[in-house]
Amino acid sequence: MPNIIILGTQWGDEGKGKIVDLLTENADCIIRYQGGHNAGHTLVVGQEKFVLHLIPAGILHPDKTCVIGNGIALDPQALMEEIDNLEKRGIEVGQNLKISEACHLILPYHRAIDKESEELKGTRRIGTTGRGIGPAYVDKMARIGIRTGDLAHPKIFREKLSKNLQEMNYLMEKLFKSHGFDLETLYREVMTLGERILPFVTDTSQFLWEQNRKGSSLLFEGAQGTLLDIDHGTYPFVTSSNATAGGALTGSGVGPTLIDQVLGVTKAYTTRVGSGPLPTELTGSEGEYLREKGQEYGATTGRPRRCGWFDAVCVRYSARINGLSGLILTKIDVLDKLDSIRICTGYRIGSRTVEEFPRHVEDVEAAQPIYEDVPGWQQPTRGAKRWEDLPKEAQAYVQKIEEYAGVPVIMISTGSERSETITIQNPFPASA
Ligand code: GDP
Ligand code: IMO
Ligand code: MG
Repeated sequence: MPNIIILGTQWGDEGKGKIVDLLTENADCIIRYQGGHNAGHTLVVGQEKFVLHLIPAGILHPDKTCVIGNGIALDPQALMEEIDNLEKRGIEVGQNLKISEACHLILPYHRAIDKESEELKGTRRIGTTGRGIGPAYVDKMARIGIRTGDLAHPKIFREKLSKNLQEMNYLMEKLFKSHGFDLETLYREVMTLGERILPFVTDTSQFLWEQNRKGSSLLFEGAQGTLLDIDHGTYPFVTSSNATAGGALTGSGVGPTLIDQVLGVTKAYTTRVGSGPLPTELTGSEGEYLREKGQEYGATTGRPRRCGWFDAVCVRYSARINGLSGLILTKIDVLDKLDSIRICTGYRIGSRTVEEFPRHVEDVEAAQPIYEDVPGWQQPTRGAKRWEDLPKEAQAYVQKIEEYAGVPVIMISTGSERSETITIQNPFPASA
């Protein structure tokens, strides 16, 4: 059975949650591998809507195993709240969830530092989700992080916490002129949560290896998107993890030769939450139209998403960086009523014309989009299930995207529900 990475090709919120939930039917293990509860993945099943932040989007299928890999920054409180909320709604979370012992913990001081350092940045603030993601990964890289496995060793955990608090409290009090954290209180709070988390904790890399040897199919669920990747995104306006394909490997402990496909989820237009350049951004009524039609409000923070036309430069770049084998195009129905649609095919930067996504954020900030205009279809596509059901202008739009990205579109999402999907080529062939 194939092992497949699903990831975002733009600035996040491409509809990864819907696609992973849908493809879970054919997979065995669904793995989150980077980011944390900054993600908001929406699943719509009939009249019910679920927004997942940390738990993989496979959780609605009780017979599948969901895995939180070592690459995740895990906030114990956010995790338990999410589990409690799911259980309240009748979704079982028990043996079907496994958490790596090497996840770095997000603790309350990370959240506090995230907020304070954003304030300090003033107009160059990143517009983070305020979840403490960046500061937790800073500790990981500084080799002072505390991991899920440490929760099983109270003495070691307490020592690490005590040492870190000396530094964190100094930062909080002296630099941010705020209040520090009390060791005793924090220790007790986290240990209480730890007791509930430990039964899920295991060596998930070993587990996935064994599952793969048994012939199980692994489905990797990316968070954020390629342009928010710490290395390949619009740095410094990025998140603090590798949202690109390599993150699935380092963040799960699964080797590259086990991966069969890398599929990029791509919105039929572009959105971004938070600061940083967005070359095709529409600030006037056209942007407002896309936001309302597409209900573009952050699934985690509720912030309005910035909207713009489809940016082929960005998606072609994503195809290269991730070695994409296919695209999954979402939200094409949002464009249904438009009489004309624009595709950005290149940028003008000063006197230069470029077709490759620029390396430096200053160039992306200066980029003026070059557009190709294509006719709209002005007919409903919402809920379409077959390629033949799409108006010919919509088919032409999809084909243009394929051409510019250099990657085939293998699925098209025409609504938020599972059934509202056109499958051109099933990534899980029946014979596999
Ligand atoms: P994710 O972070 O990539 O999982 O995406 P989000 O859940 O943050 O945002 C995608 C939004 O679009 C959610 O509200 C989905 O329910 C919705 N959605 C997904 N696919 C489609 C689609 O094809 N059409 C429409 N209209 N909505 C969709
Ligand atoms: P999903 O998985 C969209 C953005 C934030 C901010 C930047 C850094 O739902 O696609 P962080 O809190 O991560 O340090 O913020 O990244 N961001 C997202 N934008 N979708 C997401 O996740 C995001 N997760 C983080 O808005 O600009
Ligand atoms: Mg989202």
